[in-house]
Amino acid sequence: MEKLKELRKSCESRRIPIISLATERFLWKLLRKHKPKICLEIWGAVGYSSIYIGWVIKDRGGKITSFEISYPAYQEGLQNSKEAHCYNIISYPYDVLYAPIKKLVQSPVDFIFIDGQKSQYGEYLEIVEKFSSPHTVIVIDDVIKYHNKLVSLYSFLRKKQINCVWTPKGGSFGWENYTGDLRNRKHKWNEAFSDFENSRVYQIIQLEPDDGVMVIVK
Ligand SMILES: C[S@@+](CC[C@H](N)C(=O)[O-])C[C@H]1O[C@@H](n2cnc3c(N)ncnc32)[C@H](O)[C@@H]1O
Repeated sequence: MEKLKELRKSCESRRIPIISLATERFLWKLLRKHKPKICLEIWGAVGYSSIYIGWVIKDRGGKITSFEISYPAYQEGLQNSKEAHCYNIISYPYDVLYAPIKKLVQSPVDFIFIDGQKSQYGEYLEIVEKFSSPHTVIVIDDVIKYHNKLVSLYSFLRKKQINCVWTPKGGSFGWENYTGDLRNRKHKWNEAFSDFENSRVYQIIQLEPDDGVMVIVK
């Protein structure tokens, strides 16, 4: 999309951090696969990722609710969405930690994208949990580059007993080579660990030499 190309360039020149092209490609595959209708984004900045997600999900009637803490960034996001003709984005200039988000977000949400203050990822998850169903797919950005800031994220995962799912030795772990369903993969791997069968799991997918995303699924 022309508007997104232009927006990426403008964000790069202003040093506004937005999703990488690798994350963008990954999201495309994931969204086309899971076909979410109701999406939630925590921290949209000037709207790049919400426009991208909104654009991918719009032909199936999907919509995305996005929060951004900075008012000027939120305002620019509104303008950018308008210029991109993306009308399935609902944005709010609120801090999700304090906003009345129960009133603002329809639940259950099918897909959640978290890309914000790394040290607060655990707190965001405590909040979004209230809007999730067991089948909600959650993607958390930048979990490799900023792994040393993710104390609250890992303590949330421990508390909720969300375990890491590993690929059997010799198997491919990268999303690029991955064509099956995360749930089937989990099923295979967990044949010997049936205790995990009904719980959610997380997987870290390396998308770039120094970074990647975490995906939480059932
Ligand atoms: C990485 S950017 C989001 C980029 C966006 N997802 C994209 O790809 O277009 C992170 C955003 O988190 C917001 N944010 C939320 N809470 C924050 C906090 N406590 N401290 C700093 N930034 C915060 C910032 O305003 C910033 O716009």
